[in-house]
Amino acid sequence: MTHRETPLSPDSADDGAIARAAEALRQGKLVGMPTETVYGLAADAMNPQAVARIFQAKQRPAFDPLIVHIASQTMVQQVASQVPPLAQRLAEAFWPGPLTLVLPKQSTVADLVTSGLPTVAVRWPNHPVAQRLIEATDSPLAAPSANRFGGISPTRPEHVTAELGHCESLAMVLDGGPCEHGVESTVVRVVDEQAYILRLGSLTLERLETVAGRDQLVTELNPTNEQDKTVASPGMLSRHYAPRTPLHLCHNLQHAIDLATTVTQPAGLLAFAISNTATAQSLAQHFAVVQDLSPGGDLVEAAAGLFAAMRRLDASDCKTLLAVRLPDRDLGRAMNDRLQRAAN
Ligand code: TXA
Ligand code: MG
Repeated sequence: MTHRETPLSPDSADDGAIARAAEALRQGKLVGMPTETVYGLAADAMNPQAVARIFQAKQRPAFDPLIVHIASQTMVQQVASQVPPLAQRLAEAFWPGPLTLVLPKQSTVADLVTSGLPTVAVRWPNHPVAQRLIEATDSPLAAPSANRFGGISPTRPEHVTAELGHCESLAMVLDGGPCEHGVESTVVRVVDEQAYILRLGSLTLERLETVAGRDQLVTELNPTNEQDKTVASPGMLSRHYAPRTPLHLCHNLQHAIDLATTVTQPAGLLAFAISNTATAQSLAQHFAVVQDLSPGGDLVEAAAGLFAAMRRLDASDCKTLLAVRLPDRDLGRAMNDRLQRAAN
């Protein structure tokens, strides 16, 4: 990969910048694209060479397929050969938004996008800049999260420029502000009117259940079940979303305080809704840095700030990071999944 001397800075996402970004994409270059979940590293999904540059820039293994971003019904048909009825109902309910549907693919989609799988992951993002970029390029855009493979997903444009801004194939990073959700999309595969959740994300189980019946939703894939094995997602590695500093997951604040006395100091804490001053004072004795994801106990606020908080802790002098599990409901479930993988 060729390097540029001075890294890129984010570009404002005005009409001129979007036109330039679309032109760069048509020429096979990469663009940092804001979405409502996390920032993506976009390439023209119909151009295999451009898609190859994504894998090169991210140092992503070729067995891990990419999500294709679309912005119209016509584009869905351009990439997917079929949409099962339950998938159609989910799309109607949640698109545009943080739902990715794994569908049978059209042969025109580059094999590299899908890592040779007969299916393609499709998402209609809800961010206006992403939508304008896809429309201006007039092609579906393949885009993984714009971080190095296995690292923390970017939720601000400067996360992308800091991590990939030296990469020559990256033409620009569009500034769409901080991401609204902060956790990736929920990936769902429908087979025989059963919805298999391959990755839980910003679209919560509770919301999926308002469209798919509980008996139609498979939340825990069973590795010994043949059907589950064939639908499983190649990208769900056990170690992922990981800071460079070792991270341990704790059941609650008391567990974190107990562990703090045994780990390499200084230690940093990632917590949620630290409620009283007595606890806060005791935490200050044990931790050099404390990040409370939402002092008021709001899971939406916590999710939006999760990855940025992990980056801040990783950039601090802390030698060990302790993270407290979030409540196991709504967005807390997807955040616990990410923290678990970061800890492995
Ligand atoms: O919110 C998001 O989904 C963000 C933004 C940029 O849209 N994108 C994102 O992409 O998180 P990435 O590459 O980090 O994660 C894509 C996930 C991986 O777990 C991958 O294995 C899975 O989707 N995936 C992609 N294509 C698939 C397919 N055909 N079958 C099963 N899983 C697939
Ligand atoms: Mg990713």
